Amino acid sequence: MVLNSESLVGKTIIVGVTGGIAAYKAAELVSQLRKKNANIQVIMTESANHFITATTLSTLSGNAVKGDLFQNQGTVSHIDLAMEADALVIAPATANIIAKMAHGIADDLLSTTILAMRCPMIIAPAMNDRMYLNAVVQGNLHSLEAMGMKVVKPESGKLACGTEGPGRLAPIESILNEIIVNLSTSTQFKGIKMLITAGGTREPIDPVRYIGNRSTGKMGFAVASVAARLGAEVVLVHANTDIPIPYGVKHISVTTANEMYQAVLREYHDCDVVVKAAAVADFHPQPQPEKIKKQDQELIISLESTTDILAELGQKKKHQILVGFAAETNDLMANAASKIRRKNLDLIVANDVSRSDIGFSSDDNQVTFIYPNGEKESLEKMTKKAVAYQILDRVLGMINDKFPSREEE
Ligand code: CTP
Repeated sequence: MVLNSESLVGKTIIVGVTGGIAAYKAAELVSQLRKKNANIQVIMTESANHFITATTLSTLSGNAVKGDLFQNQGTVSHIDLAMEADALVIAPATANIIAKMAHGIADDLLSTTILAMRCPMIIAPAMNDRMYLNAVVQGNLHSLEAMGMKVVKPESGKLACGTEGPGRLAPIESILNEIIVNLSTSTQFKGIKMLITAGGTREPIDPVRYIGNRSTGKMGFAVASVAARLGAEVVLVHANTDIPIPYGVKHISVTTANEMYQAVLREYHDCDVVVKAAAVADFHPQPQPEKIKKQDQELIISLESTTDILAELGQKKKHQILVGFAAETNDLMANAASKIRRKNLDLIVANDVSRSDIGFSSDDNQVTFIYPNGEKESLEKMTKKAVAYQILDRVLGMINDKFPSREEE
């Protein structure tokens, strides 16, 4: 499913094509982007010419393909291209361009243009699995992600060289969705205060031990980042995460379920939307002031219930739109449906956390939306950012239904 692509209209997108067997798939990406009314400038590296022709890409993009750093006399083409661009996508990205980007090497038109860019950059690697899993390539990809670039991870499958493993270019749809999400800046949520929770709470047993869970906060942070980009005033209450705080987001760091409860209640009265993606402990022990020493007999720790924060927000609800998550390992639909009623929610996002490809630490998710009238909407597997965008799209529909006079400025 390709997301609403309005954010692409009229945008200049540089498509960098590097030399790998998947270069032929760049034709489909360019064609799709053009259908969505983006202005496409293709830059090919020299080795890309061995896999796809410039004629194909210039016909599909409607613009002459660039490749030569010294082509135009009198203009500095790499700076012009970089200044013009709203986004850059490299598909396929070879180990070579990834290494050059990670180390600032500029020896052709694509690599020099990249150094001059100040816009979202999306990299879709494709290569042999042994190369992709090489520690240097992985290290370079991590460095690029740490610099704020987006990596659309390759798929696992049969590769051109006959082996099987991760290295196949991600589906064009996933690459398109990543571009759409990164170009979505608007004022659709202007004037809307959104409270988002993320991460997993920890309940101390003693000064060195705690009861925790496997949540990383990726889903909640994705919602916070997209909401801020769509113009919302975002307050992110996060527990035990190590993800950088998204730009423009007010944040409150907490550790325990009770601290999250206090922080959420303080912010709740004047907020319009709550998205409760955090994994909150349902029980907590009475923490011991000193480290519990090893002992021969059985150790019994009794646990008391914590407050169900979302259920309490549901009881206190006035104008707010409440979105909950249901992280389940079994009976996904039945459990999620009972939570939407029990907690008085407007939407619940159900996901199966027993699957490792979409679980807590994964960058992807596959969710089903369940509404109070029992209606269900199952989405395909997509990045957590793309899921965040879909959630906010449904929330915007609810806001507009509740306040028909509200107009985008
Ligand atoms: N939640 C909450 N406070 C709690 C427990 C859960 O606010 N003490 C919220 C979560 O943030 C999530 C939703 O309730 O949005 C569902 O959480 P989940 O852990 O799936 O369900 P529980 O209500 O805890 O029920 P169970 O553990 O039995 O599945």
